[in-house]
Amino acid sequence: MMTTEFLPFALPDIGEEEITEVLDSLKSGWLTTGPKTKRFEKEFAEFIGNDVEAIAVNSATSGLHLALEALGIGAGDEVITTTYTFTATAEVIRYLGANPIFVDIDPHTLNIDPTKIEEVITPRTKAIVPVHFGGLAAEMNPILDIAGKYNLKVVEDAAHAIPTTYRGELIGSLKSDVTVYSFYATKPIATGEGGMLVTRHPEIAQRCRVMRLHGISRDAFDRYTSTKPNWHYEVIAPGFKDNMTDLAASLGIHQLKKAWIFQQQRAKIATFYDEHLRDLPLILPPKAQAGDTHSWHLYVIRLDDTAKVSRNTFIEEMAAKGIGCSVHYIPLHLHPYWRDTYNLRPEDFPVALSTYECVVSLPIYTRMTLEDQENTMTAVKEILIR
Ligand SMILES: Cc1ncc(COP(=O)(O)O)c(C=O)c1O
Repeated sequence: MMTTEFLPFALPDIGEEEITEVLDSLKSGWLTTGPKTKRFEKEFAEFIGNDVEAIAVNSATSGLHLALEALGIGAGDEVITTTYTFTATAEVIRYLGANPIFVDIDPHTLNIDPTKIEEVITPRTKAIVPVHFGGLAAEMNPILDIAGKYNLKVVEDAAHAIPTTYRGELIGSLKSDVTVYSFYATKPIATGEGGMLVTRHPEIAQRCRVMRLHGISRDAFDRYTSTKPNWHYEVIAPGFKDNMTDLAASLGIHQLKKAWIFQQQRAKIATFYDEHLRDLPLILPPKAQAGDTHSWHLYVIRLDDTAKVSRNTFIEEMAAKGIGCSVHYIPLHLHPYWRDTYNLRPEDFPVALSTYECVVSLPIYTRMTLEDQENTMTAVKEILIR
């Protein structure tokens, strides 16, 4: 098998509806946060349900930062999270002068191991930030129980998790304080850059809204579109510049409408891989519990001990066969900044370490044709059967 063109690891799926909506915004004269952003927020909140408020931001990183700020996380506080994530999950904790306390992962789900959380709780612990790795829900019931027992806040990093369910409930509608999504170009729904924060708590929503735009008490759209003289505003805090543009929201409105269709298309690809990659020296990705939805943002295989190639050689050979792959994740404790700041050793998180050494993320996105899937599957087989 040899593909004629290189199959990228990920691609967004932008339709005519998105393009028409962006053109409409361009012609309207309103480019920044305005009516499209308001509509996207309203429709996103309705999508999640359970009376949440939704606040659109320019990235999940901004959303996580705003969430922790609104919850009062500050200098010297500790926030528990997984080492098996993207650096954004932990860097926002440092923005506030607080310290991430890393925890190892469950060897099956690759999500934070809830049985290892209590042992790192100290009087300084203020919050837990679970990540729904690849779009498979973290074990939220024990996490929420621990948070309740120790009076900790919970912010879900749902960058991969739309739509994902846990015990029948959509991620975002659980009892956590805040949930944050990413609409980065490769994410399950994409606006290029963008994110959404949802919460059931009006006071958190209000703080995030104000801090999202310079700590100003009223947003620009309200001020400029009012027919009364309306130039006055008040700065009530040193806020940030985290607002979403109407151009991004134009994409988001239509991506959101397709979120379930996109999920079904990715789930079909996952099923195709599952069926064809059985009987190889691989561990296939964990599934959602019966009745639950995995968003299938990532399809992560693990080469097992009997594989005749290393992970790095595998990825090189896939690239030579025209298939883009990736690695999720290099655990945070292996990166120089986190390692050196917190004196972490590779073996401090043995499950994350051994997982990292054998993982490969295969392409899984809606624009993949059946031929793309077959080519990927054939390439995997050719490399592993030797
Ligand atoms: C787990 C996780 N959290 C947070 C982020 C940050 O998202 P964004 O790029 O929208 O800031 C990402 C992005 O890759 C991610 O994978």
